[in-house]
Amino acid sequence: MSFGALSVPAIRALSRGAKQAGIWLNTGEGAMSSFHLEGGCDLIFQIGTAKYGVRNEAGGLSEDKLQAVAGHEQVKMFEIKLSQGAKPGKGGILPGVKVTEVIASTRGIPVGQDSLSPNRHPEIACVDDLLDMIHRVREISGKPVGLKAVIGLAGWLDQLCERINERGLQYAPDFFTVDSGDGGTGAAPQSLIDNMGLPVQSSLPLVVGKLTEHGLRERVRVICSGKMINPAAVAAALCLGADCINSARGFMFALGCVQSLKCNKNTCPTGITTHDEELQQGLNPVDKADRVANYAANLMHEVEVIAHSCGVAEPRLLRREHLLIVS
Ligand SMILES: Cc1cc2nc3c(=O)[nH]c(=O)nc-3n(C[C@H](O)[C@H](O)[C@H](O)COP(=O)(O)O)c2cc1C
Repeated sequence: MSFGALSVPAIRALSRGAKQAGIWLNTGEGAMSSFHLEGGCDLIFQIGTAKYGVRNEAGGLSEDKLQAVAGHEQVKMFEIKLSQGAKPGKGGILPGVKVTEVIASTRGIPVGQDSLSPNRHPEIACVDDLLDMIHRVREISGKPVGLKAVIGLAGWLDQLCERINERGLQYAPDFFTVDSGDGGTGAAPQSLIDNMGLPVQSSLPLVVGKLTEHGLRERVRVICSGKMINPAAVAAALCLGADCINSARGFMFALGCVQSLKCNKNTCPTGITTHDEELQQGLNPVDKADRVANYAANLMHEVEVIAHSCGVAEPRLLRREHLLIVS
């Protein structure tokens, strides 16, 4: 979740809570701020279609800025965002009312104007372009690089795997984040939120299956996101082949989200998705960091409880035979 969609105190609470829980924090496409770093947690830097934080004058990838970001010890990996489940084919949207001084300077954009990211990376028009970008970012940063996408048609997955095998494993992504079609967002058209993109119950086994079919399962880690809010959903995802999961709205609940659906209006009553300092009063980063850490710890504990009930020593040993989806 980007800084911009989220407020300063929300990012502070998440970075502290992630540190306490020993989990990572993904920056989202709004670049990395000092508030991400101050909590001391591990960070995944997301390279969105607007390349905020690693952007050159022309809007392309700045190698110098990428190296500077990679120079931070806390930055463990880079995620190239192709798409997000809530709005396939649509870029990032941050309404001008939320583009404050600090967000504008973090992103390198003018204050008060809508921040609209392109709906795709202009330099990625085919799987070979994507592999070139993965390889280039890894060469420059020296850190693992992956991609994030919501799945619709699956043909490009075969092409991607075939080209990796033809060009060599040095072009393979280190991880693939499969986002669910029913994923969340700070702002998106209703028509896309409800109807576009496969849910993770379908797309996760599809991606895992393709990687296995092409002999790349050991090379590429699989992460999934999309309503991984309770332990059963997480355990089911592990059964379907995920190596780990990302959660966004689950942690918004830990921060105190009451789902008032005002994220894009800058009037969030809980201070999570507003830059109005008056409304942020109730979000104390130190107190909320504990709630973030407790939520993560309890979620992981309960997944272990489910794993033991399935007769395996730890969640990573959960397999498809442990899961039956009753529809
Ligand atoms: C407020 C908000 C902001 C988000 N910003 C981003 C973003 O910048 N980049 C991105 O790839 N996904 C973004 N997402 C999507 C989440 O990262 C995640 O993929 C999706 O919400 C599914 O997870 P969930 O069901 O746990 O929320 C955002 C989601 C929310 C709720």
